[in-house]
Amino acid sequence: MPLNSPTLHKIEELNVENEGVKTFKFHSQEIARESEPGQFVMVWNPGIDEIPISIANASQEGELEVAIADVGDCTHNLHQKHVGDLVGLRGPFGKAFSLHGATICMVAGGYGTAPLRFAAKRAKELDKHVVLLVGARSSAELLYIEEFERMGYEVRIATEDGSEGYKGLVTELLEEILASGEKFEQVLTCGPELMMKRVCEITRRERILTQVSVERIVKCGCGACGSCDLGGYRVCKDGPVFDAEELERTEFGNWKRAKSGKRIAIKPDMSAREEIELLSIPPSRFTPANEPLLRTEVCGIKFPNPIANAAGFGVSGKLLYRYAAAGAGAVVTKSVGLDEREGYPNPTFFELSPHSYSYVNAMGLPNPGIKNYGLEIEDAMYADVPLILSIFGKSVEECRELVRIAIKYPIDMLEFNASCPHTEFAAVEHNPKLLKSIIKEIRGIAHQKGIPVAVKISPNVGDPAGLALTAEKAGADAITAINTVISRPIDPTLDIPLLGNPTGYGGKSGKELAFGGKRVIFELYEELRIPIIGVGGIFSAKDVIEYAKNGACLFQVGSALVSEGFEIFTRLKSELKEYLVVNGYKNLGEIVGEAHRR
Ligand SMILES: Cc1cc2nc3c(=O)[nH]c(=O)nc-3n(C[C@H](O)[C@H](O)[C@H](O)COP(=O)(O)OP(=O)(O)OC[C@H]3O[C@@H](n4cnc5c(N)ncnc54)[C@H](O)[C@@H]3O)c2cc1C
Ligand SMILES: Cc1cc2nc3c(=O)[nH]c(=O)nc-3n(C[C@H](O)[C@H](O)[C@H](O)COP(=O)(O)O)c2cc1C
Ligand code: FES
Repeated sequence: MPLNSPTLHKIEELNVENEGVKTFKFHSQEIARESEPGQFVMVWNPGIDEIPISIANASQEGELEVAIADVGDCTHNLHQKHVGDLVGLRGPFGKAFSLHGATICMVAGGYGTAPLRFAAKRAKELDKHVVLLVGARSSAELLYIEEFERMGYEVRIATEDGSEGYKGLVTELLEEILASGEKFEQVLTCGPELMMKRVCEITRRERILTQVSVERIVKCGCGACGSCDLGGYRVCKDGPVFDAEELERTEFGNWKRAKSGKRIAIKPDMSAREEIELLSIPPSRFTPANEPLLRTEVCGIKFPNPIANAAGFGVSGKLLYRYAAAGAGAVVTKSVGLDEREGYPNPTFFELSPHSYSYVNAMGLPNPGIKNYGLEIEDAMYADVPLILSIFGKSVEECRELVRIAIKYPIDMLEFNASCPHTEFAAVEHNPKLLKSIIKEIRGIAHQKGIPVAVKISPNVGDPAGLALTAEKAGADAITAINTVISRPIDPTLDIPLLGNPTGYGGKSGKELAFGGKRVIFELYEELRIPIIGVGGIFSAKDVIEYAKNGACLFQVGSALVSEGFEIFTRLKSELKEYLVVNGYKNLGEIVGEAHRR
């Protein structure tokens, strides 16, 4: 998957399809040749935002088409563009439709017709029989009908006002067609979520294999940030196309998430009574494996193994649960603040150069706010591993209020993020006096409930060891190091920052951080008495071993979750166990700080 920064492409052709939708045609052999129906591209409107858009058509010759509905700032501005204007593109992203059987029914609503146009073209190449059901409020909103007819397909239209075709909902038309005895081996659907939910109910009853293309807020586009969460699935990576059964035990059709990650009802008129529907369907209880070589105790907390995810790689409790079920010995939440924050516009994350495994991000600390975060903790707690709540704040008062709420949740540890390099909250680690006051305040409240406090620092300050010592003296129970390294990538053609953060700043993560991260841990171990949590560029057991020998006793994995996926927890653990057995160690703890004992 190409995670590199957006590449500028000229708009080759623009077609007005209906009142609100335009088709944008580009030429990109690199993207078009890789594209499959159901996948999406990230479309960068420089200086405004980068948004996910389904591929409406792609060819081996490099033709790439997307249909964009004018619904808000970014799309409206795109609608003002002309042929020849430059737009950034990257992709393709996500999981495509897989076509099964000889007869397929495609049910489309609104701009959901776009990915189904590409799917219909593929079905034609595979010689499948396709019936298209296209729904809209009125005939003025129909999309790509002539295109489908040119492919030789039978198109049945449903309009709510009866201005064309069947009068009523497209789902009612589907029910009628199935009741009349027409048979399909598969149904593909894309459109408004409540329409797709109804399609799934109908096809489940009829036992027809169904695939659904869903939407959630996409930020990184590659499974890093968790903004697009749907029941613990990341829509950008595990979707956007899902088998209907996969969605059955999720909130699909009930609620989605705002840009902050806060749960919001899909039905705009949800009553207070119905708010109960904002709850998740609980996962089954998960107990971690017994791994004597790896288990450890830090700050009085028992960890089944010392490898956790890094903060920021998931907002939802269900995604954290998935990390634990994949083998993480603890889970760390997204950094949560006192108030809800939606974060920066996109681009928010990309790889610095292809296959470098070094990334830059400027998410802007999106989070639902501490009062809304209990629902996520509740879900994560179904996995029986320690839960570390990452928090941030820029004043003593703000942190006091935040921690008073945080400690009411069943958390095992707090990790105070003093070091997000691309937000105003970075100021905390650059002001030791403020940092000290905040740590004293947080510790005072957290210790009443026996909750230890780790403080996360970055190498962006001149003297990380000195800063860590200040944190220790102020009462920190552990130090987490390192956060991302400040960076400001620029688009060479437009000479503007690539990241959506208004200042253009972001933080580097991934492979490039390993060397500096290990060095910082070495320096901290020389200065500190408290435990050190190592993070930054951990991709292999060798990295963990070097971090451990330099002085870290717990480890967090971030960027490697993007390049390798959840499997990294199991691989790291089995490689570590092999290393310990071969070298005669009884527990990983024996090598912690070994580099200092030579
Ligand atoms: C996988 C996928 C495929 C999509 N395909 C198409 C398509 O083919 N054609 C099309 O017109 N639209 C498509 N969308 C929706 C499109 O991304 C949003 O309409 C667009 O981001 C709105 O941006 P805006 O600034 O104009 O509107 P805003 O005013 O920012 O938002 C309007 C609404 O758009 C949605 N939205 C905003 N930002 C995002 C984001 N980063 N990710 C996802 N949704 C967002 C939210 O629901 C929001 O309420 C797709 C979305 C996803 C997730
Ligand atoms: C997309 C993304 C989001 C992040 N969000 C947070 C965050 O909310 N809080 C935090 O303390 N660190 C955050 N970080 C930093 C990581 O926790 C970690 O310190 C950094 O990425 C280095 O580890 P890595 O090289 O393994 O990714 C984020 C990093 C990335 C890439
Ligand atoms: S947008 Fe899907 S994980 Fe970041």
